[in-house]
Amino acid sequence: MDEIIKAGKICKEIKKKLPSFIKPDLSILGAAEWIEAEIKKAGGLPSFPVNISINEIAAHFSPMPKYEGVFKQGDMVKVDFGAHIDGFPSDNAVSFDLGENEELFLASKDALAAATEVILSRGADSTLSEIGSAIEKAITTRGFNPITNLTGHSIAQWNLHDGLSILNYDSGSDRKIGEGIIAIEPFATNGEGRVKNGQSSEIYRLVSRRPQRLPNLRKLVNEIVKFKTLPFCSRWVSKPEYLRMLVKSETLHNYPLLVEVSGGMVSQAEDTFYIKDGKVTIVT
Ligand code: CO
Repeated sequence: MDEIIKAGKICKEIKKKLPSFIKPDLSILGAAEWIEAEIKKAGGLPSFPVNISINEIAAHFSPMPKYEGVFKQGDMVKVDFGAHIDGFPSDNAVSFDLGENEELFLASKDALAAATEVILSRGADSTLSEIGSAIEKAITTRGFNPITNLTGHSIAQWNLHDGLSILNYDSGSDRKIGEGIIAIEPFATNGEGRVKNGQSSEIYRLVSRRPQRLPNLRKLVNEIVKFKTLPFCSRWVSKPEYLRMLVKSETLHNYPLLVEVSGGMVSQAEDTFYIKDGKVTIVT
Protein backbone atom coordinates (compact mmCIF):
# COMPACT_ATOMS: atom_id res chain seq x y z
CA MET A 1 0.00 0.00 0.00
CA ASP A 2 2.62 2.48 -1.11
CA GLU A 3 -0.22 4.54 -2.54
CA ILE A 4 -1.20 6.02 0.81
CA ILE A 5 2.41 6.97 1.53
CA LYS A 6 2.70 8.72 -1.83
CA ALA A 7 -0.67 10.40 -1.35
CA GLY A 8 0.43 11.67 2.06
CA LYS A 9 3.66 13.10 0.67
CA ILE A 10 1.63 15.29 -1.66
CA CYS A 11 -0.14 16.77 1.39
CA LYS A 12 3.16 17.39 3.19
CA GLU A 13 4.48 19.45 0.26
CA ILE A 14 1.27 21.47 0.01
CA LYS A 15 1.27 22.23 3.74
CA LYS A 16 4.70 23.85 3.43
CA LYS A 17 3.43 26.42 0.91
CA LEU A 18 -0.07 26.82 2.32
CA PRO A 19 0.57 29.68 4.80
CA SER A 20 1.08 32.23 2.02
CA PHE A 21 -2.48 31.54 0.75
CA ILE A 22 -4.29 31.90 4.09
CA LYS A 23 -4.12 35.60 4.89
CA PRO A 24 -6.64 38.41 5.37
CA ASP A 25 -8.15 39.69 2.08
CA LEU A 26 -7.03 36.64 0.09
CA SER A 27 -9.64 34.59 -1.76
CA ILE A 28 -11.03 31.47 -0.08
CA LEU A 29 -11.89 30.00 -3.48
CA GLY A 30 -8.35 30.78 -4.64
CA ALA A 31 -6.87 28.82 -1.74
CA ALA A 32 -9.12 25.81 -2.38
CA GLU A 33 -8.42 25.79 -6.10
CA TRP A 34 -4.69 26.14 -5.55
CA ILE A 35 -4.62 23.10 -3.24
CA GLU A 36 -6.69 20.98 -5.61
CA ALA A 37 -4.48 21.97 -8.56
CA GLU A 38 -1.29 21.16 -6.60
CA ILE A 39 -2.66 17.70 -5.74
CA LYS A 40 -3.27 16.98 -9.41
CA LYS A 41 0.07 18.42 -10.49
CA ALA A 42 1.76 16.01 -8.08
CA GLY A 43 -0.02 13.04 -9.67
CA GLY A 44 -2.86 12.59 -7.17
CA LEU A 45 -6.53 13.49 -7.02
CA PRO A 46 -8.34 15.21 -4.14
CA SER A 47 -9.62 12.69 -1.55
CA PHE A 48 -12.54 15.12 -1.11
CA PRO A 49 -13.18 18.79 -1.92
CA VAL A 50 -10.90 21.11 0.04
CA ASN A 51 -12.77 22.19 3.18
CA ILE A 52 -12.07 25.71 4.38
CA SER A 53 -14.24 26.16 7.45
CA ILE A 54 -14.04 29.37 9.45
CA ASN A 55 -14.76 30.25 13.11
CA GLU A 56 -17.89 28.44 14.44
CA ILE A 57 -18.12 26.29 11.31
CA ALA A 58 -16.15 23.18 12.21
CA ALA A 59 -16.26 21.37 8.89
CA HIS A 60 -17.70 20.89 5.41
CA PHE A 61 -17.49 24.39 3.97
CA SER A 62 -16.13 24.25 0.45
CA PRO A 63 -16.55 27.29 -1.78
CA MET A 64 -19.23 27.26 -4.46
CA PRO A 65 -18.26 28.10 -8.06
CA LYS A 66 -17.31 31.81 -8.36
CA TYR A 67 -17.43 32.26 -4.57
CA GLU A 68 -16.11 35.72 -3.72
CA GLY A 69 -15.47 35.39 0.02
CA VAL A 70 -12.09 36.34 1.48
CA PHE A 71 -10.27 35.54 4.72
CA LYS A 72 -10.74 38.19 7.39
CA GLN A 73 -8.63 39.47 10.22
CA GLY A 74 -9.67 37.53 13.34
CA ASP A 75 -10.71 34.34 11.52
CA MET A 76 -9.88 30.88 12.82
CA VAL A 77 -9.43 29.03 9.53
CA LYS A 78 -9.43 25.25 9.24
CA VAL A 79 -8.06 23.86 6.00
CA ASP A 80 -8.91 20.16 5.68
CA PHE A 81 -7.80 18.37 2.51
CA GLY A 82 -6.27 15.18 1.20
CA ALA A 83 -4.82 13.55 -1.88
CA HIS A 84 -5.67 10.05 -3.03
CA ILE A 85 -3.78 7.73 -5.29
CA ASP A 86 -5.77 4.87 -6.78
CA GLY A 87 -8.48 5.46 -4.20
CA PHE A 88 -6.26 5.43 -1.12
CA PRO A 89 -7.29 8.71 0.49
CA SER A 90 -4.98 10.64 2.79
CA ASP A 91 -6.66 13.20 5.04
CA ASN A 92 -5.10 16.07 6.98
CA ALA A 93 -5.97 19.47 8.38
CA VAL A 94 -4.24 22.55 9.68
CA SER A 95 -5.64 25.64 11.38
CA PHE A 96 -4.59 29.23 10.80
CA ASP A 97 -5.19 31.82 13.49
CA LEU A 98 -5.72 35.15 11.73
CA GLY A 99 -6.62 36.79 15.03
CA GLU A 100 -5.56 36.44 18.61
CA ASN A 101 -6.68 32.94 19.40
CA GLU A 102 -3.30 31.31 19.63
CA GLU A 103 -4.27 29.24 22.68
CA LEU A 104 -7.21 27.74 20.81
CA PHE A 105 -5.00 27.13 17.78
CA LEU A 106 -2.46 25.38 20.01
CA ALA A 107 -5.12 23.30 21.78
CA SER A 108 -5.92 21.17 18.72
CA LYS A 109 -2.29 21.16 17.62
CA ASP A 110 -1.14 19.90 21.04
CA ALA A 111 -3.94 17.34 21.01
CA LEU A 112 -2.78 15.90 17.70
CA ALA A 113 0.80 15.82 18.98
CA ALA A 114 -0.31 14.00 22.14
CA ALA A 115 -2.30 11.44 20.15
CA THR A 116 0.66 11.00 17.80
CA GLU A 117 2.88 10.22 20.77
CA VAL A 118 0.47 7.51 21.91
CA ILE A 119 0.34 5.95 18.45
CA LEU A 120 4.10 6.09 17.94
CA SER A 121 4.73 4.32 21.23
CA ARG A 122 1.80 1.88 21.31
CA GLY A 123 1.20 1.31 17.59
CA ALA A 124 -1.69 -0.99 16.69
CA ASP A 125 -2.26 -1.67 20.40
CA SER A 126 -3.22 1.95 21.09
CA THR A 127 -6.73 1.95 22.51
CA LEU A 128 -9.50 4.44 21.80
CA SER A 129 -9.37 5.40 25.46
CA GLU A 130 -5.63 6.11 25.37
CA ILE A 131 -5.89 8.26 22.26
CA GLY A 132 -9.09 9.99 23.39
CA SER A 133 -7.76 10.82 26.83
CA ALA A 134 -4.50 12.22 25.39
CA ILE A 135 -6.56 14.48 23.09
CA GLU A 136 -9.00 15.52 25.80
CA LYS A 137 -6.24 16.29 28.29
CA ALA A 138 -4.26 18.43 25.83
CA ILE A 139 -7.35 20.48 24.95
CA THR A 140 -8.71 20.96 28.48
CA THR A 141 -5.23 21.86 29.76
CA ARG A 142 -5.43 24.93 27.49
CA GLY A 143 -8.88 25.70 28.90
CA PHE A 144 -10.99 24.52 25.94
CA ASN A 145 -13.37 21.68 25.12
CA PRO A 146 -12.90 18.89 22.59
CA ILE A 147 -15.76 18.52 20.13
CA THR A 148 -17.21 15.23 21.24
CA ASN A 149 -19.34 14.39 18.20
CA LEU A 150 -16.56 14.73 15.62
CA THR A 151 -14.13 11.85 15.41
CA GLY A 152 -11.03 10.49 13.79
CA HIS A 153 -11.61 7.48 11.57
CA SER A 154 -10.16 4.48 9.84
CA ILE A 155 -9.58 4.75 6.09
CA ALA A 156 -9.77 2.11 3.35
CA GLN A 157 -9.47 2.18 -0.42
CA TRP A 158 -12.27 4.38 -1.85
CA ASN A 159 -13.57 4.82 1.68
CA LEU A 160 -12.64 7.94 3.60
CA HIS A 161 -14.58 7.00 6.73
CA ASP A 162 -14.25 3.27 7.17
CA GLY A 163 -15.74 1.47 10.18
CA LEU A 164 -13.76 2.77 13.16
CA SER A 165 -14.53 6.11 14.86
CA ILE A 166 -11.77 7.49 17.07
CA LEU A 167 -13.36 9.67 19.71
CA ASN A 168 -11.74 12.94 20.79
CA TYR A 169 -12.32 12.28 24.50
CA ASP A 170 -11.82 9.41 26.88
CA SER A 171 -14.72 7.05 26.19
CA GLY A 172 -13.22 4.35 28.41
CA SER A 173 -13.12 1.99 25.42
CA ASP A 174 -10.26 -0.51 25.44
CA ARG A 175 -10.79 -1.27 21.76
CA LYS A 176 -7.43 -1.28 19.95
CA ILE A 177 -7.02 0.62 16.71
CA GLY A 178 -5.21 -2.27 15.03
CA GLU A 179 -3.17 -2.10 11.83
CA GLY A 180 -4.23 -0.14 8.77
CA ILE A 181 -4.78 3.49 7.84
CA ILE A 182 -6.29 5.90 10.36
CA ALA A 183 -6.86 9.65 10.60
CA ILE A 184 -6.69 11.41 13.95
CA GLU A 185 -8.52 14.73 13.97
CA PRO A 186 -9.03 16.63 17.20
CA PHE A 187 -11.24 19.72 17.21
CA ALA A 188 -11.00 22.23 20.07
CA THR A 189 -13.52 24.95 20.89
CA ASN A 190 -14.26 27.72 23.36
CA GLY A 191 -17.92 26.67 23.02
CA GLU A 192 -19.87 23.75 24.47
CA GLY A 193 -18.01 21.11 22.48
CA ARG A 194 -20.55 19.69 20.07
CA VAL A 195 -21.56 20.39 16.50
CA LYS A 196 -24.99 20.43 14.91
CA ASN A 197 -25.99 20.24 11.27
CA GLY A 198 -26.18 23.63 9.60
CA GLN A 199 -27.16 24.56 6.06
CA SER A 200 -26.42 22.21 3.21
CA SER A 201 -22.88 22.48 1.90
CA GLU A 202 -21.41 22.29 -1.60
CA ILE A 203 -20.13 18.78 -0.85
CA TYR A 204 -21.88 15.62 -2.06
CA ARG A 205 -21.30 11.91 -2.39
CA LEU A 206 -22.87 9.34 -4.70
CA VAL A 207 -24.95 6.90 -2.67
CA SER A 208 -26.94 5.03 -5.29
CA ARG A 209 -26.62 5.04 -9.03
CA ARG A 210 -30.30 5.19 -9.89
CA PRO A 211 -31.34 5.26 -13.55
CA GLN A 212 -32.16 8.84 -14.58
CA ARG A 213 -34.85 9.63 -17.12
CA LEU A 214 -33.93 13.27 -17.69
CA PRO A 215 -30.97 13.64 -20.07
CA ASN A 216 -29.42 16.45 -17.99
CA LEU A 217 -29.47 14.33 -14.86
CA ARG A 218 -28.19 11.29 -16.71
CA LYS A 219 -25.28 13.34 -18.02
CA LEU A 220 -24.54 14.69 -14.54
CA VAL A 221 -24.55 11.22 -12.96
CA ASN A 222 -22.16 10.05 -15.68
CA GLU A 223 -19.79 12.83 -14.62
CA ILE A 224 -20.15 11.99 -10.94
CA VAL A 225 -19.43 8.27 -11.15
CA LYS A 226 -15.76 9.03 -11.73
CA PHE A 227 -15.49 10.17 -8.09
CA LYS A 228 -16.76 6.70 -7.12
CA THR A 229 -17.52 6.66 -3.39
CA LEU A 230 -15.40 9.69 -2.49
CA PRO A 231 -16.99 13.10 -1.86
CA PHE A 232 -17.07 15.75 -4.61
CA CYS A 233 -18.42 19.30 -4.86
CA SER A 234 -20.44 21.63 -7.02
CA ARG A 235 -17.23 23.17 -8.45
CA TRP A 236 -16.24 19.85 -9.99
CA VAL A 237 -19.29 19.27 -12.18
CA SER A 238 -20.53 21.08 -15.28
CA LYS A 239 -24.17 21.57 -14.21
CA PRO A 240 -24.22 22.08 -10.41
CA GLU A 241 -27.76 23.48 -10.56
CA TYR A 242 -29.09 19.93 -10.97
CA LEU A 243 -27.33 18.47 -7.93
CA ARG A 244 -30.27 19.26 -5.60
CA MET A 245 -32.60 17.14 -7.72
CA LEU A 246 -30.24 14.20 -7.34
CA VAL A 247 -30.25 14.71 -3.56
CA LYS A 248 -34.07 14.66 -3.58
CA SER A 249 -34.09 11.37 -5.46
CA GLU A 250 -31.52 9.99 -2.97
CA THR A 251 -28.95 9.45 -5.68
CA LEU A 252 -26.63 11.81 -3.83
CA HIS A 253 -25.96 12.56 -0.20
CA ASN A 254 -25.37 16.21 0.67
CA TYR A 255 -23.13 16.97 3.63
CA PRO A 256 -24.52 19.66 5.90
CA LEU A 257 -22.19 22.28 7.35
CA LEU A 258 -21.15 21.28 10.86
CA VAL A 259 -21.51 24.20 13.23
CA GLU A 260 -20.53 24.47 16.89
CA VAL A 261 -23.83 24.36 18.87
CA SER A 262 -23.10 27.42 21.00
CA GLY A 263 -21.41 29.39 18.24
CA GLY A 264 -17.97 28.77 19.73
CA MET A 265 -14.83 29.23 17.70
CA VAL A 266 -13.27 25.97 16.53
CA SER A 267 -9.72 24.88 15.70
CA GLN A 268 -8.70 21.56 14.15
CA ALA A 269 -5.58 19.53 13.45
CA GLU A 270 -5.38 16.24 11.58
CA ASP A 271 -2.91 13.69 10.25
CA THR A 272 -3.17 10.30 8.59
CA PHE A 273 -1.19 7.34 9.99
CA TYR A 274 -0.33 4.02 8.43
CA ILE A 275 0.35 1.12 10.78
CA LYS A 276 1.77 -1.97 9.13
CA ASP A 277 3.84 -4.88 10.49
CA GLY A 278 4.31 -3.08 13.78
CA LYS A 279 5.66 0.05 12.10
CA VAL A 280 3.90 3.42 12.35
CA THR A 281 4.26 5.96 9.53
CA ILE A 282 2.90 9.48 9.84
CA VAL A 283 1.64 9.68 6.29
CA THR A 284 0.79 13.38 6.09
CO1 CO B 1 -10.66 13.17 8.45
